Amino acid sequence: MVTTFKFKNGDQMPILGLGTWKSAPGDVYKAVKAAIAAGYRHIDCAHIYGNEAEVGHALSDAFSEGVVTREQMWITSKLWNDSHAPEDVRPALKETLSNLQLEYLDLYLIHWPVALKKGATFPLTPEKLVSLEVLPILITWSEMEGLADEGLCRHIGVSNFSMAKLQDLLENARLKPEMNQIELHPYLQQTSMLDFCEENNIYLTAYSPLGSADRPDSLKADDEPVLLENPTIATIAKHHGATPAQVLLSWAMQRGTAVIPKSVNPDRIKQNLAAADLSLTAADMQTIAELDLNRRYVDGTFWQVDGGPYTLAALWDL
Ligand code: A2P
Repeated sequence: MVTTFKFKNGDQMPILGLGTWKSAPGDVYKAVKAAIAAGYRHIDCAHIYGNEAEVGHALSDAFSEGVVTREQMWITSKLWNDSHAPEDVRPALKETLSNLQLEYLDLYLIHWPVALKKGATFPLTPEKLVSLEVLPILITWSEMEGLADEGLCRHIGVSNFSMAKLQDLLENARLKPEMNQIELHPYLQQTSMLDFCEENNIYLTAYSPLGSADRPDSLKADDEPVLLENPTIATIAKHHGATPAQVLLSWAMQRGTAVIPKSVNPDRIKQNLAAADLSLTAADMQTIAELDLNRRYVDGTFWQVDGGPYTLAALWDL
């Protein structure tokens, strides 16, 4: 199985990384240290996760203890929605770098194609949202390009972008997006997005690859199937002497996407990394392909405020 994505400039991103969304301060230091000790070389972060300073502490300790070097690690972070205005983009990255105690990021992503007024927090009101007509993504993107030119991040990309929004960047941007990080798992397979990105040389990273059963209640519906308990996944796991989580991760990697499972538990952190050694058969892949429900858990309803500029149809270009 491919273990890294290779970029045009020769950089390589390990396709299995540690997710840190929902990792509480107090837990995430140990999780990052355990992951690096286990062999992870890719950590996925974001300003909005509220834990970058603690991730930075763990990275700094791992570097000073000689466990790994900065160059051996791949660190991704994301520009939060309240910093899309041109004057806010560079300071946002500088703050993230300061929190992470790094000189540069390997990858910086626009977290959502949604703009908020500076400092706006939940609960949202229409006044806190800024439409993409007023603050177009291309304006924010050109600042991201400047950051890449400066070497503050080696690669730039996006997250939660539809194919139409990617197409707009592909047609109009000076530097093409190299990554789209999206929700991807057997209940939300996004096959046409996978094909589109392959055709356009954009890599995909799957977030919530395990179905993110621990996401906040505000992101949960009542009738949700729990992916990690799916009986078909359990049967395949049993057949290979693997765990359901390993089947989900191996499936995603064999489809050609990167994965960033979140865990703060040392045993599960190791278990998830070992998914790279699990080889699913073509029949397993086909069986899992049939589980698609087009079920988006992180569906963006929180951006859809009565009287505000964002609708789900416009967000996902449905
Ligand atoms: P924990 O951090 O206690 O391990 P996702 O990456 O899809 O958002 O999923 C994260 C959730 O899955 C967290 O609740 C995490 O809990 C849990 N998790 C992570 N790895 C495993 C695993 N190998 N088996 C079962 N649950 C896991």
